[in-house]
Amino acid sequence: MAKTRDQMKAFLEGLVKQAGTFLLARFKKDIRLQQKRYGVKDAITKYDKLVDELIVHQIRNQYPEHRVLSEEGGLTKGESEWLWIVDSLDGTTSFANSNPLFSVCIALQHDGELLLGAIYAPALGELYFAEKGKGAFLNHKRIHVSEISELKKSYLLYCEGGEKDRLKTGSILGKIYPEVMDLRKLGSAGLETAWVAAGKAEAYFTTNIEPWDVAPGILLIQEAGGRVTNFQGNSWKVERSDLLFSNGKVHSSLLDFLEP
Ligand code: IPD
Ligand code: CA
Ligand code: CA
Repeated sequence: MAKTRDQMKAFLEGLVKQAGTFLLARFKKDIRLQQKRYGVKDAITKYDKLVDELIVHQIRNQYPEHRVLSEEGGLTKGESEWLWIVDSLDGTTSFANSNPLFSVCIALQHDGELLLGAIYAPALGELYFAEKGKGAFLNHKRIHVSEISELKKSYLLYCEGGEKDRLKTGSILGKIYPEVMDLRKLGSAGLETAWVAAGKAEAYFTTNIEPWDVAPGILLIQEAGGRVTNFQGNSWKVERSDLLFSNGKVHSSLLDFLEP
């Protein structure tokens, strides 16, 4: 089993690096992609699909019996307890707009429990990796959430996820913004979770977010000593949800603002 887990870790690390390297080789090369920025916010480039195919093909080659849930391909059929959750390009509009805040996000679940998570931001040279019970790492060095416990000293990250009602999200932001040091938006849910795990921000919250946007980040933050719940304080499930990720110390104060 230990060998199997080590093989899976090596496979996952190789996979996000390969996908990220593919994207980096095409980053800033296709100026026509910038037009996507002025179309829909949820733009998809041809690279989202190409990288998804690359990733899913390799998983199916290596672990043919496992199931895969990917943003671009949906859920494969099967009974396996193993599930790979894939976002081939998180931060598509950043990528299209020559902005380096994009990442490849992949998590592995067994029997409903997150075991491995990887987020690779190739243009930043940041590889985040988490293993259940073994810790969270940035470029193979252990990372921890921040120690800040006061909201007034806290940097928060935010993305609206799938929530389209800007009056609703605006009202949440309006309540929280006056209470914190700053509120920032990176445009990649994967990176937002990773930066909380690495102590670059105290918390990240998001509404109606899809599982592939956050699955690796959930394990990463838990393994870095932080906490992840929905806005009611309950654990995450593989479904669209409103989620709060934090260093643990500012969690309950923030839930007071987020609870409907
Ligand atoms: C998007 C980003 C963004 C979030 C959206 C996601 P994509 O992912 O993570 O920050 O607000 O909900 O869809 O579409 O670039 O993979
Ligand atoms: Ca995404
Ligand atoms: Ca995506």
